[in-house]
Amino acid sequence: MNILVTGGAGYIGSHTIISLIENGFSVIALDNFYSGHKEAVDAVEQLTKADIMLYNGDFSDINLLENIIKKHNISGVIHFAARSLVGESMKRPVEYYKNNISGTIIFLEFLKKNGVNNIVFSSSAAVYGIPVQIPIVETSPITPINVYGFTKTVIENMLESMRGAYGFNYISLRYFNAAGAHKSGVIGEDHNPETHLIPNVLKSIASGEKRATVFGNDYPTKDGTAIRDYIHVSDLSYAHVVAIKHLIESKRGIGNTYNLGCEKGYSVLSVLRKIEEITGRALDIKFAARREGDPAVLVASYEKIRRELGFELKYNIEDIIGSAWKWHSSRLNGYEGGV
Ligand code: UFG
Repeated sequence: MNILVTGGAGYIGSHTIISLIENGFSVIALDNFYSGHKEAVDAVEQLTKADIMLYNGDFSDINLLENIIKKHNISGVIHFAARSLVGESMKRPVEYYKNNISGTIIFLEFLKKNGVNNIVFSSSAAVYGIPVQIPIVETSPITPINVYGFTKTVIENMLESMRGAYGFNYISLRYFNAAGAHKSGVIGEDHNPETHLIPNVLKSIASGEKRATVFGNDYPTKDGTAIRDYIHVSDLSYAHVVAIKHLIESKRGIGNTYNLGCEKGYSVLSVLRKIEEITGRALDIKFAARREGDPAVLVASYEKIRRELGFELKYNIEDIIGSAWKWHSSRLNGYEGGV
């Protein structure tokens, strides 16, 4: 069965391709390489020994989509491709509205016209804004506080409307903090600029600088630093396989939304301490002001996906940091320079 993966050369996309192949699917990947890496798909091909059809272009390019759909019988779609930096979304909102919303409207309309009915959508904890309860459940209020979160909310709503009107099948997955790398060490996180905590600090250690900056130590938490729920990218990836399988096996008109986190919160300082333990390097830690738009605590309940789809986590925070360290310590410049 063929699955079309938009953003297949990205961080979560490339890890999901491995999971899809391991579970017997064939993959058609689409990426414009704005933030994805062709090298990631090459590495996945080498690792899995599978042929991955990789198309270079935008997911809203109708000519390209027509070309793909003519050549391949697509059973389902996993839609990762998006602009995905919270801070950047506030500075360049038009790009986010245009790419994430307008682009996805074109894409979804194309899927509908061509009878492609099953879609797993990459959503985010950012749809919750400042949570009113911890752990966050899927029925918690949807009050995004940044443009990125707002774009994800709009598409979630559009999918639900398409389910109601056309019997479209979808699952929206709201990710908490994706981190870690594939156990093989051949793919991992490589963003430019890198803004996320774990890769930022591990890259600094790998370069010999060993620096960490903590954004805010005046949050209402035990040690004053912000608490997040980190989920291993390989667990996250496998959840997409569970979701697309479920949609393919269901009758029409299935629509659902699930959180993907671990139900465990770690403060920034506790993550830094674990990084020190796992890498065996002491960090030079500095404190800076809070980052605009950062909630104090984000912890997911993932009870719903566990109960309804039988999804279970395999990895913990040590596995996350350990696998990310394997990747960053051997690939200081990420994919640059080839695999
Ligand atoms: N942080 C630091 N120092 C750093 C980097 C981050 O202290 O060098 C802090 C942040 O302020 C935050 C925590 O570490 O409190 C985690 O930050 P990340 O940038 O790693 O991740 P975010 O929680 O900001 O982002 C995640 C997802 C987004 C999602 C967002 C919702 O990656 O996709 O949660 O708030 F939109």
